[in-house]
Amino acid sequence: MKGVLLAGGTGSRLRPITHTGPKQLLPVANKPVLEYAVEDLKDAGITDIGVVLGHKGREAIQELLGDGSEYGVDITYIVQGNPLGLAHAAGCARDFVGDDDFVMYLGDNILNEGITDLVESFETGDYGAGIALQEVDNPQQFGIADVDDAGNVTELIEKPDHPPTNLALIGMYVFSSDVFDAIERLEPSWRGELEITDAIQLLLDDGHEIDSHVVTGWWKDTGKPEDILEANRLVLEDTTLERNGTVEEGAETNGRIGLAESAVIEDGAVVRGPVSIAEDTTIKSGTYVGPYTSIGANSTLEGIHIENSVVIGDSSLTASGRIVDSLLGRSASVESADELLPEGRRLVVGENSQLKL
Ligand code: G1P
Repeated sequence: MKGVLLAGGTGSRLRPITHTGPKQLLPVANKPVLEYAVEDLKDAGITDIGVVLGHKGREAIQELLGDGSEYGVDITYIVQGNPLGLAHAAGCARDFVGDDDFVMYLGDNILNEGITDLVESFETGDYGAGIALQEVDNPQQFGIADVDDAGNVTELIEKPDHPPTNLALIGMYVFSSDVFDAIERLEPSWRGELEITDAIQLLLDDGHEIDSHVVTGWWKDTGKPEDILEANRLVLEDTTLERNGTVEEGAETNGRIGLAESAVIEDGAVVRGPVSIAEDTTIKSGTYVGPYTSIGANSTLEGIHIENSVVIGDSSLTASGRIVDSLLGRSASVESADELLPEGRRLVVGENSQLKL
């Protein structure tokens, strides 16, 4: 079994954060989303992994994952170029996959229970594909599966106006190499993409059985800023956080706090977990870091109160206000305007930024 990890796409719903890098590298609990996928593949025994790259951030992704040896896997890079849909991306991996079965994993998706059950379930039968499903509240926004009373998949529809069920296809699939012939026969959908959901429907039409596996733990497609914040909450809630850094006497800390070795919580600061603070970051006196916050590396916080937020890193937050439910891109700086005249907020805001003042 091989792995095909999709790391292309434009990340348009995460602008401006994705103006400078691929969405798959956004950090959740101070770890790039893509790393969670590599670890899930490895845990399922899949070490031969093809990473499909789009135009955006190719070098950054290759720099992070390298040849895979740091993760105990073997990585081959495949260039998709233009983002013409998930099935197009899968089709680009045809030579890499050959006649093997493979797991296709969307590199911006994250789930807590891993993919071992999905892979094992597929391997028990003679299936054309295995899909992971989860009930969602907004089925119009996903690929949806219909199943009969015995739980067999009977139909798959991409973003249906009138969904027959609320069982969404989540971003992990297992395929036999028969899927490549189905992909060759696909026509672009209404959104101009070759849909993987349509390819699975073609496998069904060809008489293949489709295995389905309902995922009960949490799953998140990190396509939008609020999804990153939610994924960050879910991961901070679930993972072990290690305090390796320095907590000075006089600092108030409660709950679970992940503190990198070179990070410091200074005397007079208040930190309430679950929180993750990365290397070379200092939380100075008068600062409050509240639950469900991740602060990236090489940052300084002084006087600010911040909660339920993700700060990507290399940032300086020294204003005395409150920041909640926010995603701050790399090298962001939030300073005080108290001494300045005329009074008012001073903003340098990038294209597609969103501010709620
Ligand atoms: C894609 C798939 C869809 C699936 C979803 C899971 O949607 O097309 O079938 O349910 O991922 O995240 P997209 O993110 O391209 O809208």
